[in-house]
Amino acid sequence: MTKAEWAGTLAERGADILMNTYGRYPLELAGGRGCVVWDSSGNQYLDFVAGIAVNALGHAHPAVIGTIRDACEGLIHVSNLYWTEPMVRLAERLTAVAGMERAFFCNSGAEAIEAAIKMARKARPGRPRTVCFEHSFHGRTFGALSITSRPAYQKPFRPLMADVTVLPWGDENALAGIDGRTAAVFVEAVQGEGGVRPAPSGWLAGIRRRCDEAGALMVVDEVQTGIGRTGTFFAFQSEGIFPDAVASAKALAGGLPMGALLARGAAAEAFTPGDHASTFGGGPMVASVANAVLDVVLEPGFLEGVREKGTRLGDGLRRIAAAHPAVVEARGRGLLWGLVLSRPRAAKLVESLQGMGLLTVPAGPDVLRFAPPLVVTNEEIDACLVLVERALTDQEKEG
Ligand SMILES: Cc1ncc(COP(=O)(O)O)c(C=O)c1O
Repeated sequence: MTKAEWAGTLAERGADILMNTYGRYPLELAGGRGCVVWDSSGNQYLDFVAGIAVNALGHAHPAVIGTIRDACEGLIHVSNLYWTEPMVRLAERLTAVAGMERAFFCNSGAEAIEAAIKMARKARPGRPRTVCFEHSFHGRTFGALSITSRPAYQKPFRPLMADVTVLPWGDENALAGIDGRTAAVFVEAVQGEGGVRPAPSGWLAGIRRRCDEAGALMVVDEVQTGIGRTGTFFAFQSEGIFPDAVASAKALAGGLPMGALLARGAAAEAFTPGDHASTFGGGPMVASVANAVLDVVLEPGFLEGVREKGTRLGDGLRRIAAAHPAVVEARGRGLLWGLVLSRPRAAKLVESLQGMGLLTVPAGPDVLRFAPPLVVTNEEIDACLVLVERALTDQEKEG
């Protein structure tokens, strides 16, 4: 046995042995069903984090379990030197639902963004510039970090990718910054990590227009918002626009690691063999599970259900915002919501709620984020709202 195997609690052993990349809560999660998880002592929690918008079907969904079981009996992985049916079928379905033409599969959101950056360079030769927006989050790899407008995340790793322009969020006039040197514009339809900020109505259409004028590609990052999270399959679809490319990941394969870049037109045709690759990308098991997720999310009525439950959650949070001076506003769409606090106390609130049996996650210092599984019930939403109200009341009493 190594020292790490016997010394102390799981948290102590983990802190000793894992690289120091996450601020973790002292919670040892051991199991889950639907929207509930439990820790190693058997305490239950309503899970309104869902792996940060990953577990769209909740925990231990029978379709996910059954598909993984069946897929294990077949092929878990083969090289991208060969064709496999689940991958091709998934590409056909995802491109159809997104109005795109081709797919590239990888393993995470950052990788989908990385692929999009390379694709844009290839599709728009001679244009070195990439445009992104304030408060953006696109991932932690070098390319993705370069277009993630967070000085604190970027500073230790400079120099990053050159020629990145950061424009103000939601500002139509600033779109003039998209110019003839711009290969691509990266935008989230609802900024997730940046504080659950939905794009102002009509603004994405403005980006589309400006990209067309300047000859730049429009890439929508749907890593957090895709697969039904905001009540349409992709969030951009409620804006009546067509980007040139869409990045997806998180919920795509029901909790297994998978990312996808979908594209149309010249962007879809940019790559040729050798330009880009991923050993695990689109493997048969993970693609089978993604197909199973699509079966559920594309069932008639499912997205309508997300919209209805989203309205219930959003209305409840808006009521709470109106009643509590510590809350400035509730904002979001579908089942992705943020409670904007008047002070940077999101982390403290997350901890209080954990103590009450509700898991939530900050989206910045002053935003409490809610991203429950899409299969959440009305009763679970109501229970969440009661606990949030109680935690805020407690906090107000403490001053
Ligand atoms: C909008 C967005 N893009 C990209 C990423 C990066 O995804 P991953 O952590 O899978 O690399 C995230 C992760 O939170 C995200 O929210």
